[in-house]
Amino acid sequence: MAVLNSTAVEQIERICDRYAEEKTPLIMILSDIQREYGYVPLEVQEVVSRKTGISVAEIYGVVTFYSFFSLEPKGKHVIGCCLGTACYVKDAQKVIDRFCEVLGVQPGETTEDRMFTIDALRCIGACAAAPAVTRDGDVSARVRVTDVPDIIARYRAEGSAA
Ligand code: FES
Repeated sequence: MAVLNSTAVEQIERICDRYAEEKTPLIMILSDIQREYGYVPLEVQEVVSRKTGISVAEIYGVVTFYSFFSLEPKGKHVIGCCLGTACYVKDAQKVIDRFCEVLGVQPGETTEDRMFTIDALRCIGACAAAPAVTRDGDVSARVRVTDVPDIIARYRAEGSAA
């Protein structure tokens, strides 16, 4: 979606139309765009702004506040490491550091092969599972630093088998 042609603009406008009757449609619109396209770049935010009358500044604020939304395309697999208090005291920082070390990225970044994105998350409501990690939206409980290389290796094996 790097360059928005007229078809892409129409698709974004159709998503906006889905929520035309809603009083506060922005999160729903952006969620659909994120799910269907994988990210919400500025040029898409401008289309949403024109269609809804919501300012680009407000849209940008929402996109950058919630970790679910992304300005850049995310990887095939999105790994989110919770850094909330309950997870933090159970070594969550070491877990995310290990993911970043194994993949050669920083939190919020995507690997060059577009296989993985590593996100740092606020509490995801699974504190009993601390340290909690989301893998493509599913929660993995009590992930240890020593688990990280195997998790990545399994994804890579799946990818090469596909
Ligand atoms: S602090 Fe990590 S799930 Fe709540």
